[in-house]
Amino acid sequence: MNAKKSTENVRMQISAFGKDVMYGLSQHPKSISSKYFYDAEGDRIFQQIMEMPEYYLTNCEYEILSQQRKEICDAIRAFDEPLNIIEFGAGDGYKTRLLLKYMLENKAEFTYYPVDISNHILNELETNLSDEMPALDIKPLNLEYFKALTTLSKIKDRRNVILFLGANIGNFKYNEAENFIGRMSSTINPGDMLLMGVDLRKNPDTIRLAYDDPHGLTESFNLNLLKRMNRELGADFNTSNFSHYAFYEPVDGEMLSYLVSKKNQVVHFDALEWSVEFNTNEFIHTEVSRKYSIYELEIIAESQHLEVVKHFFDTKQYFVDTLFKVK
Ligand code: AVI
Repeated sequence: MNAKKSTENVRMQISAFGKDVMYGLSQHPKSISSKYFYDAEGDRIFQQIMEMPEYYLTNCEYEILSQQRKEICDAIRAFDEPLNIIEFGAGDGYKTRLLLKYMLENKAEFTYYPVDISNHILNELETNLSDEMPALDIKPLNLEYFKALTTLSKIKDRRNVILFLGANIGNFKYNEAENFIGRMSSTINPGDMLLMGVDLRKNPDTIRLAYDDPHGLTESFNLNLLKRMNRELGADFNTSNFSHYAFYEPVDGEMLSYLVSKKNQVVHFDALEWSVEFNTNEFIHTEVSRKYSIYELEIIAESQHLEVVKHFFDTKQYFVDTLFKVK
């Protein structure tokens, strides 16, 4: 499990991705952040994941936003005064457009700030939404969440409503999620709101199947991380030497994903002038998708100076969009 680092690296220009990979694969256990799933190919596979029936999350949230958009807009007081609608992890906007369209049709005045780390998906989102809703005032921000929060802390001209949909909060560990929610609420003003989409705890098999699907889409999504390292860091991963392993831990509500090495192997990274060894069955932890209970959401709200305005559930109660107000 030796990771040999060339002294040449000091003189090389290494991308943030390269540095994080080198750090993560030198740890025991090895890990790489799931934020690196989302290159153009990862975005494409994720869109396919969202369309498969096993990944129930998309349909559940779509149902909430389509059937309860009036109640949601009334609860955020969308028509009372001009708003900034800031969306973290905007993705392809498949669900958000339901709210935006309803607000425009009913003459709400707002600027929409989609924030995403994927420039590719933001461009696509801007083109699609502008075609569909020419009147939409859209200002995309291609930034990481924390950098976007700093930028947004300067925009305090209007009441802000942050959207954090699609169970993106699940990709943080519990403490990180609490911290991120706290940072969101302290960046905006008292009376501002946060609408957060959260995947709820449910039958463990239902959850595991969404992340270990029979079509092999989640497997390709996970393996794409190795392909991305090949493409961007000149690595020589052979993806058939790794397998996708997904495991749901019901005590903590953590859905965990890994890539497991099928043999002893050494992988070389040309762009990093660096090699790393994998033993048989050694794994790379690649993602957590945490599931929450309503009780946990209420505890977090309490600790982060937020008031729960309302929980909007789908009919199966698999998912919730919770509206919080900053105290
Ligand atoms: C983006 N995020 C909310 C997805 C999730 O459910 O954690 C990413 C994903 N990973 C595997 N399937 C979907």
